[in-house]
Amino acid sequence: MALRFNDKYVKDFLSDNDVKNIIPAMEKAHEKIVNKSGEGNDFLGWVDLPDNYDKEEFARIKRAAQKIQNDSKALVVIGIGGSYLGARAAIEFCKSQNYNLLKKDSPNIYFSGNSISGQTLNEIVALVKDTDFSINVISKSGTTTEPAIAFRIFRELLIEKYGETEAAKRIYVTTDKTKGTLKELSDEKGYETFVVPDDIGGRYSVLTAVGLLPIAVAGIDIDKMMQGASDACKEYSVCDIEKNNCYKYAVLRNALYRKGKKIELMVAYEPDYTMMNEWFKQLYGESEGKDGKGIFPASVVCSTDLHSMGQYIQDGERHIFETSVVFTNPKSDITIKEEDTNSDGLNFLAGKTMSFVNRKAYEGTTLAHVDGNIPNMLIELDVMNEYSFGYLVYFFEKACAISGYILGVNPFDQPGVESYKKNMFALLGKPGYENQRDKLLARIGQ
Ligand code: PA5
Repeated sequence: MALRFNDKYVKDFLSDNDVKNIIPAMEKAHEKIVNKSGEGNDFLGWVDLPDNYDKEEFARIKRAAQKIQNDSKALVVIGIGGSYLGARAAIEFCKSQNYNLLKKDSPNIYFSGNSISGQTLNEIVALVKDTDFSINVISKSGTTTEPAIAFRIFRELLIEKYGETEAAKRIYVTTDKTKGTLKELSDEKGYETFVVPDDIGGRYSVLTAVGLLPIAVAGIDIDKMMQGASDACKEYSVCDIEKNNCYKYAVLRNALYRKGKKIELMVAYEPDYTMMNEWFKQLYGESEGKDGKGIFPASVVCSTDLHSMGQYIQDGERHIFETSVVFTNPKSDITIKEEDTNSDGLNFLAGKTMSFVNRKAYEGTTLAHVDGNIPNMLIELDVMNEYSFGYLVYFFEKACAISGYILGVNPFDQPGVESYKKNMFALLGKPGYENQRDKLLARIGQ
C-alpha cells in the first residue's frame, strides 16, 4: 500500500460511538458519489479521471511539453486558485522548492497571474524578457481578472519579442472546450488549446491538462503520476471504514469537528511539501467552508514553524486537530560527521542522517502535541515522487468529497468566492456594477 494511515493518536479523543454515529453519513456520501445523486453531481469527473482521461490530449500534452523544453528557457504559467496551485505543488513536491535554481535540462517555471501585485508581475517580466520563453495561460472560465491582466502583459511581451506569428506558437491555452474569451481568442489567433473538462472544478483539476502541462514541462513523469492516482482510485473505492483509509480520514475529521476541533492543521516535515499544503487548503477550504460550517484548513511545515507557531499549537486554544504527512525515505540525505573537538556538542548525532533526526522531530512533536490535547492522524508514504503525488492527490480529493457530504454541504461549488469580485469590479468602475459602486464608496467614506 503506497499510503499508510495511523489513527492511534486520535483514539483517546473519540469514543467508538463518536465514530460509529458518522458511518451512515459516510455510506450516504459514498452512494452520492457512485450514483452521482448528490449536490454538485455535475462535477464528479475527477472520480474516474485517473483511468478515464483523454489519451489523445495526454499525448499532445507530452508533445507540447517537449517543444517548450526545446525552444524555451522559461515557461510562464498564468492562473490562479485551482488553475495553478496543483502544478506548483507537484513541481515542488517531485523536484524542489528551489526548482528554478537547480541545474537542469528543463525550463524555469514562473507562476504569474495569481495575485494583483504589479511589483510581482514586473519581477517576472524582468526575469523572462531577455530569454526565450513560452506562456501557458490557464483559466476555466477564461474571464478571471488576475490571470487575464497577466496574460495581456506577457502576450504583449511575446509579440514584441517574436512578432505575432512566432508568438502564437509559444502560447498554450488551457480553458473550456467550447466557450469563453480565452477559447475565442485562441481560435482566432491559432493558439494550441487544452481542455479543462466541464465536469471537473478548478480545485480538482491538477491531473487534467491544467496541472499536467506545466508538470510535464518541468520534466516530471506524468504517466507515473496518473498511475499513482489510478492505484489510489482502486484502493479507495470500497465503502468500508476498516478497509478504506481515505474514508476513515474523512469520518475521523468530521468526528473531531463535532467535538469542537474546528481547525485542521496539516503538518509536514519537508519544505518541498509547502505548496502541497496550499493546494490542500484550497481543496478543503473551498469545498467545505460554506453555509456557516466547515473545518478551517491550516498548515505548518516543521520544524521551521515550531519556532513561530509551536507555542500556540502546544498551549493555545484547544480547537485544533493535526494531520501529519511524513515520508520514510528522503529524496537525498546527509550524514552528520564526528568532530574532534565537539565544540558545538553535536557529537551525539555523529553517524546519524538528517532524515533520522527529522523522524525523531516528528515523533517528539507528535507526542508533545498529543500531550497538549491535540489529536493527531498520520499519513505516511515512502518518498516524494510522481507516483506518491498522484496517489496523495486522489486520497485527498476523494476524502474531501466524502467529508463535505458528511458535513452536509455541496463540496463542488464556491459561491462565496464571488463576493470580493463584485465589490472589486464595482470599485474599479466595471460597466454593470454602477449601483453597488456608490454604496461601497459611501461605506469606505469616499
Ligand atoms: O477551484 C476553483 O474553482 C477556483 O479556485 C478557480 O480555479 C479559480 O478561481 C480560477 O478560476 P478560472 O480557472 O476560471 O480562472
